[in-house]
Formats: sequence, structure tokens, C-alpha cells
Amino acid sequence: MRFLASRVHYKTLIVICALLSLVTVVLWNRCTNEKVLHSLPRAPLAPPSPGVAGLQQQAQPPEAPPVVGGGVRYEEIDCLINDDVTIKGRREGTEVYMPFSWMEKYFEVYGKVVQYDGYDRFEFSHSYSKVYTQREPYRPSGVFMSFEGYNVEVRDRVKCISGVEGVPLSTQWGPQGYFYAIQIAQYGLSHFSKNLTERAPHVEVYDTAEEHNSKPNTWSVPKGCTLTTSYDKTRASTVRLFNAPENSEGISLSLGNTKDFIISFDLKFTSNGSVSVVLETTEKGPPFVIHYVTTSQLIAFKDRSITYGIGPRSAWTTVTRDLLTDLRKGIGLSNTKAVKATKTMPRRVVKMILHGRGAIDNVAIATTAHMAAFFAASDWLLKNQDERGGWPIMVTRKLGEGFRPLEPGWYSAMAQGQAMSTLVRAYLLTKDEKYLKAALRATGPYKVPSEKHGVKAVFMNKYEWYEEYPTTPSSFVLNGFIYSLIGLYDLAQTASDENGREAARLYAKGMESLKAMVPLYDTGSGTIYDLRHFMLGTAQPGTMGLPHYAHQSVAAVGFHR
Ligand SMILES: *[C@@H]1O[C@H](CO)[C@@H](O)[C@H](O)[C@H]1NC(C)=O
Ligand SMILES: *[C@@H]1O[C@H](CO)[C@@H](O)[C@H](O)[C@H]1NC(C)=O
Repeated sequence: MRFLASRVHYKTLIVICALLSLVTVVLWNRCTNEKVLHSLPRAPLAPPSPGVAGLQQQAQPPEAPPVVGGGVRYEEIDCLINDDVTIKGRREGTEVYMPFSWMEKYFEVYGKVVQYDGYDRFEFSHSYSKVYTQREPYRPSGVFMSFEGYNVEVRDRVKCISGVEGVPLSTQWGPQGYFYAIQIAQYGLSHFSKNLTERAPHVEVYDTAEEHNSKPNTWSVPKGCTLTTSYDKTRASTVRLFNAPENSEGISLSLGNTKDFIISFDLKFTSNGSVSVVLETTEKGPPFVIHYVTTSQLIAFKDRSITYGIGPRSAWTTVTRDLLTDLRKGIGLSNTKAVKATKTMPRRVVKMILHGRGAIDNVAIATTAHMAAFFAASDWLLKNQDERGGWPIMVTRKLGEGFRPLEPGWYSAMAQGQAMSTLVRAYLLTKDEKYLKAALRATGPYKVPSEKHGVKAVFMNKYEWYEEYPTTPSSFVLNGFIYSLIGLYDLAQTASDENGREAARLYAKGMESLKAMVPLYDTGSGTIYDLRHFMLGTAQPGTMGLPHYAHQSVAAVGFHR
């Protein structure tokens, strides 16, 4: 009620407020009960039993027993809502109860019976979004928002983690798949945040090729193949040189790990070749094999073979792959916008098989490899920033009726901001200036109006806004704007006063707009996604259809000091 009392300008809410202050919520099965109720005399009705869950299943109106304490009786009463509909409620003295299943739909509120300490209880809320309480003051070097709870790679709109780039490929706005800077930054920021909040991973090292650590008998080298140990000066390390013709069985290293599924190894090919990983899974039958091959193919799946191209790898790089994700994206591969769901899980990493000519070192399997994912994202952002400082999104985006579609190549303030937050963290970890410089360049599109290929909009000729979707007319999407500000904040806090001046100015301008405009998004019980109801005079898309994060955005304002 605290919320509602202060939002008197919303008519409907006044009504809810009045109702809720009068009325206590009671649950019962609407359909079955309503039917029976019509035929009941206006005699005292049985009270709901204290186990509210039971009420959901009761086919008949309860035959008494009175609630503990006894003597309580409810009478049926007509409730006229908004001069609009009449429903049957219950009266007990001066108190009135209304069926929750009806209230839920009409007022778009949320509630369910849950078990709590062995008892049922009814939990009610205005909104289905979770509010995350902040653990500690926000810092540019710390956890990003609540992203330690994000798992970008399991989303069905992530087609797979590219073998060449090491970052997710999105199908959100188009089934063909494209690199989406927002998703890539979120992938990086979630792994960065998990690294700060989770326990250190268990790491099982299988081969480093060093004398004291060599277990040569775990390698199996068939006829026609060779495996030698050699000192690599460029790496100051002993490595394995392998030569296994394409048509041979291949050289294999037995692994036998049943606990962890993140494999990593240092690799350099001098010919075309492949590294294959044999996986036993929860599915009956022969094992699955994931092939990492020196092509640029994204992903393929046939029989029990899943293939990812990892590029030529003609110089030393570390390959880090989450076998669980790679397996499940392979099995779920589809030509639609969504990866198909699968129950199959990996059970045991059996072995690794090498084909072609090259060198390998430091084969290990770990519980997690958050930093590898974080730097894959950071380095992708470095490599793919264009000359205007932006990350163009190469897919058409239709925000909705009344907005002109965004043609491929548009920038998003949310992408710019989340990329900044990622790059600033990479800089703070490595002190490598290239990350900070890229973050500073990312302010470019903030200064350019949407219609001139930037992301800036102005509300009522006064308030500057950075657009998640730089549409015509402007859409003023709230959560994307807030993320664009967090990026500026991270940057202004991290760069020197002089270098960070621009970011600080853009941030201050944006905060001014946010403070002035945030009430326009407040329904009293949640947030509105954008201002299309004002700009276009059309209804907001149903709250149920909104992405979950849209409703969290106001909570996100809390980071500001
Ligand atoms: C976080 O990263 C550091 C540096 O790479 C590493 O030592 C640590 O084990 C990681 N912790 C987790 C939980 O990923
Ligand atoms: C790998 O194969 C491709 C295509 O057949 C070829 O163009 C390329 O030169 C080969 N690379 C090496 C290192 O042999």
C-alpha cells in the first residue's frame, strides 16, 4: 500500500487502493464455486480452510469446518467493480473478501500458494519481477547490477557460442544469427560478476608436457601418427607436437572427468585439423563427439557429431569451451529463432582426439572459466567497434506499429553503455589502455541524434535521452537508457578527469532527464517499457509480454550515489 498511496493520479490505482484497503484477498476456485454458489441459498457459507492450496483443488464449496477459533461464517455478497462487472464475494461482519483468481486477471496482480516452512502460504505482489537488494555500493570494478544471476548462454535465443569468436551468436531479432553487442556485453558482464561472487573453480590438469608432470601413457598414438615433446621458445614452455593424418584414428588423450565440463587447451595448428572431444551423456547409445575444426563454419549437428569451426588457429591461442553448452546447442540446433530444448546432459568427458599437424599444451578441465568468457567478450568488443565508436547491429529491428523499422547498421545506447561497462572492467583488471580507449570512443553515438545515425533523442525539447532503439518517432525505452547511463558512470569514474569529462557531462545530462522523466514510467506497481502511449498514442504492449528486465529498470536507478 505504501506505493499506491503516493500515486493518486492513476484512476485505476485509486480503485485498487480503495478495494484493497477494504477487502482482504481470498482464494477459491472460481469456476466450480461460482456455479455452485448461484444455486446456494443466502445462508452462511463455509469459510475457507486455512490451507489455502486446498481451496484451489476443491470441486465443491467447503462444507464447513469453521476456521480455528470457530464461529466464523461468511455470507455471499455481490461486488460491483468500477461500475463495470459484478462478481460474487464474501462478507464477514464489516470485512469483504473477493476471489483472487478474478482479481488477478482484472487488476493484473500476481499471487500463488507456496510452501513455506512446511506450511502453505499465499504470496501476493503487484508485479512478477524480482527486486534485487543491493549487497554493497556499486563500483565500476565490481559486480555488474545483479548479473551474477544471469546465464546468457542458456537462453534459447543464443544459437551457440561461436568457436571462432568465443562469444554468443543471437537469433533474437532474426533466425539467421548475428553478433549482438548487447548480448555479448551481457555474456561478459555476467561471467565477470560470477567470477567475483562464486567459489574458485576446481581445475583438473591433464597434460602440461613438462617433465615432472608428464603422463605419456595417457596419450595413445596409433601407427602412422607421431607425438613428440619439444621446448617452445616463444612460450618458454615444453609442448606436445602432434602429427595425425586426417584418415588416421587420431592421437588421443584419455580424460575421464565426470564432474566438470569446461575444457581448455593451448593450441597451434600448422595444417588443417581438428580437436574432438568424446562425451558420454545421459542419452542411451554411443557417445556424442564434439569436433572443433579449423574452418569458419559456425555449428553443425549430424547423428551424434557436433561440429564447431574454430578458425585456422595458426598462432598460439587458448581454446576454452563449455562442453555442456556446446553439446546442448548442438542437439537443439534449429533454423528458427529458438534453440530446441533438450534433456540431454553430459556425464563424462571420455577423451580428446587430435587430427592434423600442430602443437598443444596445458590440457585441463575446470568447473568454470569465467575470465575466459569475460575476455572473449571484451576482445570481441575491441575488435568490432567501428570508426564512430559504435557497435552497429546488422539486423532489422521493428519496435512496433507506428515506429519506422531500424535498418541494419543501427546503434543502440544500451549496447554502447553495456560495452563501456565491460571494457572499463577489462581495463581495471589488465590496466591495458586499449580497453579504456575503446570505452571512451563509445561515447560517440550518444552525441549524435537518432535520425543522423546516433542514439540521442530529446523529450519535449528539453530532456536528452539515449535510445536503446533510436526510432522515429523516439521511443524512450527506459531500461536501455538506464544501462546507457551506467556505462557512462563507469567510464567517468574510471578515466582521468580530462579524458572522462565527456562521459561525465553526458551522464549528468542523462541523469537530469532520468530524474525528471522516471515518474512517467511508474504505474505504481511496475514500470512502463517506453513512452509509445505518449509518442504514438497507442497502448503499451501487455505487461505479460514484456521482457523480464523491463520491469526491473526502476530498481536499477538505485545505483546512483
Ligand atoms: C576469478 O578469476 C581469477 C583470475 O583469473 C581466478 O584466479 C579465480 O579463480 C576466479 N574465480 C572464479 C570464482 O571464477
Ligand atoms: C586448410 O584448408 C583450406 C581449404 O581447403 C585451405 O585453403 C588452407 O590453405 C588450408 N590451411 C592449411 C594451413 O593447410
